Amino acid sequence: MLRLQLFLIRSGAFRLGRPFVSLFSKLSWFLRLAHWISQNKKIPFNDFPTTPDYQKRYKLYQYLIDQFIRDLPTTYIEMGVADGETFHWWLAQLSHPDSRFYGFDTFEGLPEDWGSNKKGSFSNQGAVPVFDDKRYQLYKGLFQETLPRFLKTYSNLQKKIILLDADLYSSTLFTLTSLARHLRTDDILIFDEFFAPQHEFRAWQDFQQAYSTIKLELIAAANNYTFVAFRVI
Ligand SMILES: C[S@@+](CC[C@H](N)C(=O)[O-])C[C@H]1O[C@@H](n2cnc3c(N)ncnc32)[C@H](O)[C@@H]1O
Repeated sequence: MLRLQLFLIRSGAFRLGRPFVSLFSKLSWFLRLAHWISQNKKIPFNDFPTTPDYQKRYKLYQYLIDQFIRDLPTTYIEMGVADGETFHWWLAQLSHPDSRFYGFDTFEGLPEDWGSNKKGSFSNQGAVPVFDDKRYQLYKGLFQETLPRFLKTYSNLQKKIILLDADLYSSTLFTLTSLARHLRTDDILIFDEFFAPQHEFRAWQDFQQAYSTIKLELIAAANNYTFVAFRVI
């Protein structure tokens, strides 16, 4: 194999394969996702196969609240808030006065293209959403700037629900690696676009490989594995 690699590089013949790099990468990540799904169907909450519907995320959230949160004081962290639809849902559902809610976003849309969604998609025109609740705080800017600053002063005392809804591989992997040392048993991670093989799924796989001591148990999947939740064990 090594000889073949050297030959392809030295002769320049590797260039013949370049037009296929993106296709092979897409196919490879799709096959990994499909294989993973085939191995992870028997879980307590799973609607696969189902008619696609984004509203099914709320059934998964409600299941998590009923089974794992109930009325415990909880810290909710949302990475990718946009106009605040999901953030507002969680604010309304977790009524404990000691629960805390933190959200992160540029509010100017995706910092990179995400498939056919161009850079700037999901923009809230830079406006930070406002809610009638004193328990929340929103941080405007790139995660790469705001999250490390936030974590310096964060007191990690409550059970956490972390919603990863940044869509992109880069943003999701940055979040996971930044939060890794703050994860505790029974914290819950929710991925909002897990069915995107080269983005959230790939970020999760790479994170699991690099942080093999952090064990994540799949507990729920909805909308054909678009929304997926793991519990830290
Ligand atoms: C799909 S939207 C979030 C939708 C929202 N959670 C909802 O459903 O109500 C994804 C958001 O992630 C944000 N985002 C992605 N990568 C980011 C990064 N590195 N830093 C800050 N914001 C980011 C984008 O600005 C965008 O608003």
